[in-house]
Amino acid sequence: MSELLTIGGGDSRSTILGGLAADGYAVVPNYFSATLVRALRGEVKQRDEAGEFQDAAIGRSDGHHQNDFVRRDRTYWLDGATLAQCQLQQELERLRLDINRDLFLGLFDLESHFAIYDPGAFYRRHLDAFNGNNQRVVSVVIYLNDAWQGSDGGCLRIWPEPDSVHSVLEVAPRAGTLVCFLSERIPHEVLAARRERFSIAGWFRRNNSSALCIDPPR
Ligand code: OGA
Ligand code: MN
Repeated sequence: MSELLTIGGGDSRSTILGGLAADGYAVVPNYFSATLVRALRGEVKQRDEAGEFQDAAIGRSDGHHQNDFVRRDRTYWLDGATLAQCQLQQELERLRLDINRDLFLGLFDLESHFAIYDPGAFYRRHLDAFNGNNQRVVSVVIYLNDAWQGSDGGCLRIWPEPDSVHSVLEVAPRAGTLVCFLSERIPHEVLAARRERFSIAGWFRRNNSSALCIDPPR
């Protein structure tokens, strides 16, 4: 196989499965290889230069003004169009099967987007799934930023329960780091950064389709 192959091995998988089961979240630095991360970062820059990123949305009916107050990132949905995306999706597919096998979450598929946070951009505290919009079961975030310094800011702040006041963790968005958490349970926030910040956010979903209603992909 190609050198794009990732290095997330057995230990990091058990960190994720154990963390999800015990705490509802897990963080693994260097989960993805530098080569894969570099390819993904290159794709982000190229697509951004081509004008392919759009202002992010926070729900079907939210007006742009409110949206702007909550989040200021720009996104591009992964479409499997490049080798790097396929390699990433292959890795995440293995993770999905591991989670289903160990935690019985019945994860059905993955939706994910690249995100660019320009300097000063943020995403205020939120849950990725909530009552009435609960197809999202496990969130994953992958960071693509080379040589990130503490003074660059841009941490992902995590709270342990939906109504927690005190956060438990701040994760720097360093290249190769994988963060996983339960979408309905773990509030999180993206703090403003001093430099451009690249990430991929993805959601393993359960399928809510029935004979009467086809579950839409997003
Ligand atoms: C999201 C999100 C976190 C990050 O897109 O829902 O929380 O660090 N992203 O990019
Ligand atoms: Mn989120």
